Amino acid sequence: MTVTIVGSQLGDEGKGGVVDLYGDAADVVARYQGGDNAGHTVVHDGEKYKLSLVPSGAVRGKVGVLGNGCVVNPETLFDEIDTLRERDLEPDVRVAERAHVILPYHRALDGIEEAEKEELAAGTTKRGIGPTYEDKAGRRGVRVGDLLDPEILRERLEYVVPQKKALAEEVFDKETGEAFDIDYLYDTYREYGERLAEEDMTVDCGTFLQDRIDDGDNVMLEGAQGTSLDIDHGVYPYVTSSNPTAGGATVGTGLGPTVVGGGEVIGIVKAYLSRVGTGPLPTELGGVEDQTPDYDEEVGGGTDEEELATYIRDEGGEYGTVTGRPRRVGWLDMPMLRHAARANGFTGLAINHIDVLAGLDEVEVGHSYEFDTAEQSSASNQNSSNSDDGDEIFTMPPTTEQWGRCEATFRSFDGWPEVDWAEVASEGYEAIPENARTYLEYISDELDTPIYAVGVGPGRGETVVVENPYE
Ligand code: GDP
Ligand code: IMO
Ligand code: MG
Repeated sequence: MTVTIVGSQLGDEGKGGVVDLYGDAADVVARYQGGDNAGHTVVHDGEKYKLSLVPSGAVRGKVGVLGNGCVVNPETLFDEIDTLRERDLEPDVRVAERAHVILPYHRALDGIEEAEKEELAAGTTKRGIGPTYEDKAGRRGVRVGDLLDPEILRERLEYVVPQKKALAEEVFDKETGEAFDIDYLYDTYREYGERLAEEDMTVDCGTFLQDRIDDGDNVMLEGAQGTSLDIDHGVYPYVTSSNPTAGGATVGTGLGPTVVGGGEVIGIVKAYLSRVGTGPLPTELGGVEDQTPDYDEEVGGGTDEEELATYIRDEGGEYGTVTGRPRRVGWLDMPMLRHAARANGFTGLAINHIDVLAGLDEVEVGHSYEFDTAEQSSASNQNSSNSDDGDEIFTMPPTTEQWGRCEATFRSFDGWPEVDWAEVASEGYEAIPENARTYLEYISDELDTPIYAVGVGPGRGETVVVENPYE
């Protein structure tokens, strides 16, 4: 069977930890979208592993697959594999021949375009993700399988590189170097192709995974990013360029929708909200320069909200795994989660980071949004009820501009104390402080989805397991 792990918010919900938690029962762990923009953390036995491309099952020695929906930077992939080997792991990673390759000009153009876009910039990780997916859709991409065939590789590069060079030089007025040089690219990427072949790493992803399932193996599908970063269902244009939602797990691996849908789809929820990047955030606390729209340092600094944000950011270690940027933080956004539960069809929830909120007097939740119907007629057709101040809506409106104008209506929950969380994890769900359970059950009830796990710390042992999806 398959278990699909999906971020329900804006990334960094603790997906890596949940993949590791349930990974014991999995035989293969496959990524289905994204690339080295992801940063998934696994903490076990005092060791911390930060993984960008190698699927998180590697820490438990599981076979990892990068599906056809991924974009692969071979340089990062091999660096990561080599680093894990130095740490005495033996990552067995297979790469779909249909996956697209991130080339140096994609990275360069990601940086150039971000600078050009100004307020439309998503604050990308500058890993070349968007430009690579653009070329995939434009049918001018280079696929992993092309690296194995010198003639095809040369042909692809000769077509595409002059276009990219002209774009950088003539449209954006930038100087170009070896990142745009056909001979350099050909030589370097042929070598990557040779290593992929020597280590027998390439696969036909769908066939590989289906064969394993037919043999009775358990497959885990590891989503990267999160639902609100999805190019279709997220807060466009402040999104990534792939489909982290559960539908992406089928397209991005070649497993049929009935196979993925016949398994479990687990939504990973952070007990509050974090965001690295730009765009609106109705439940944001305080703000972060260069990321929060219209951030005013004078106003932002020193307020109670800002202090609370700094407290949560520091307690939760909310600094980007990939870029080190401080993450924006806010209260949980229930309309965002209702949207995610519908778009993904979650069968279970893993709610992480309740330990981070411990010790606060009260914990707030954005329960619904207040929406000015006069301005926003189309979105008011959503599940809504009238109040004197406008409509109360319970899910995200379809445009990001409308979302940016939503005001969150908060509910308050009594806080819970700091306790010995490792002990709570070993004793089970009932050992979680009562007020925290009230909070968790509110989330579960609102999303009509059972709780499978509760994260009470970063380590493998710091999770309260309620259900094992493979049992
Ligand atoms: P991912 O991208 O969804 O895999 O998440 P990241 O690894 O980028 O960020 C999650 C961070 O929170 C990592 O540092 C994890 O080790 C940590 N983490 C995961 N679950 C918990 C939890 O329940 N409590 C605490 N305190 N930290 C957690
Ligand atoms: P994991 O898998 C959080 C954000 C970037 C930016 C937008 C587009 O660790 O949860 P991109 O480089 O993908 O073109 O950037 O998406 N972003 C993430 N935010 N976690 C991630 O991955 C992210 N991957 C991309 O900050 O706003
Ligand atoms: Mg992350």
